[in-house]
Amino acid sequence: MRPDSTITDNAVTITASRCLGQDVSLIAFRCPEIARNAKPGNFVNIKISPHSQPLLRRPFSIHNVDGDMVEIMAKSVGCGTILLCGSPAGAELQVLGPLGNAFTIDTPRFETALLVSGGIGIAPMRFLEKTLHAAGKKVYHVIGGKTKQDVQTRGLTNCHIATEDGSEGYRGTAIDLLRDKFDFFSGSGTVKIFSCGPNPMLKALAAFCEKKSLPCEASLESIMGCGIGICYGCTVELKNISGSGTSTILLCQEGPVIDVKRLLF
Ligand SMILES: Cc1cc2nc3c(=O)[nH]c(=O)nc-3n(C[C@H](O)[C@H](O)[C@H](O)COP(=O)(O)OP(=O)(O)OC[C@H]3O[C@@H](n4cnc5c(N)ncnc54)[C@H](O)[C@@H]3O)c2cc1C
Ligand code: FES
Repeated sequence: MRPDSTITDNAVTITASRCLGQDVSLIAFRCPEIARNAKPGNFVNIKISPHSQPLLRRPFSIHNVDGDMVEIMAKSVGCGTILLCGSPAGAELQVLGPLGNAFTIDTPRFETALLVSGGIGIAPMRFLEKTLHAAGKKVYHVIGGKTKQDVQTRGLTNCHIATEDGSEGYRGTAIDLLRDKFDFFSGSGTVKIFSCGPNPMLKALAAFCEKKSLPCEASLESIMGCGIGICYGCTVELKNISGSGTSTILLCQEGPVIDVKRLLF
């Protein structure tokens, strides 16, 4: 959990909005308060419209930080995200952040980071890759999608792509590709896996990591209202860290990044 003093609520103006495909947009705004405190894995909670619809804010991973600029990558799935993806440069947003915990890039000791993502789960990976490179780690991306239209690689290096229909890269899931090429990925040293994506992918990844005794953290999703521990809208049941029993957590407070050993499927 982060100290509350680093969380700010900011009126920002979109400086650029770029369509990256049929339903994904990259949205940039200047926000020094969030940029200076953000860590990879953190998210922001955005009031997209000054009007009552949608009433609640919507959560988005921090995709990139560059100086004072913050970028998010949003996929249109409903009323809020359609409105956000359609908002042009000059539109105003109210952005609360940075929120939640972050990926752990210093423990346990590792040389190679495998960033495994599915669909819009790619969103937190650019900021994570930059931070891992700055820490001297080798980084590979394993990126999965149903088809090539679901795959985003903008700004990323060392991308290995899997599509379920074979329209780009390896034919199969991201976890099939990870399994097949693991000897190659692990050739340069000890591995830690970082992930974000749909639950079936995380389930397969958790099983793979358990079999190989690999450390792995994943960013999870839930419906969120406030993002700051007030509404209790984001409860998720997880195994206890001790391994026995389960607990219910608020994902906006103890997450969104969780050790995959704690996942219940
Ligand atoms: C910590 C966190 C980080 C996220 N980061 C990103 C990101 O970087 N980019 C991105 O595009 N999306 C991200 N999401 C998901 C995003 O917040 C939802 O897609 C968005 O809130 C949907 O709002 P809407 O008004 O468009 O959809 P609604 O009209 O509210 O709902 C449309 C459909 O989407 C489903 N839905 C709503 N919220 C979520 C959710 N949180 N997870 C899964 N399904 C949902 C609803 O059940 C419904 O079926 C993140 C979610 C969390 C919790
Ligand atoms: S989103 Fe409100 S308590 Fe987590």
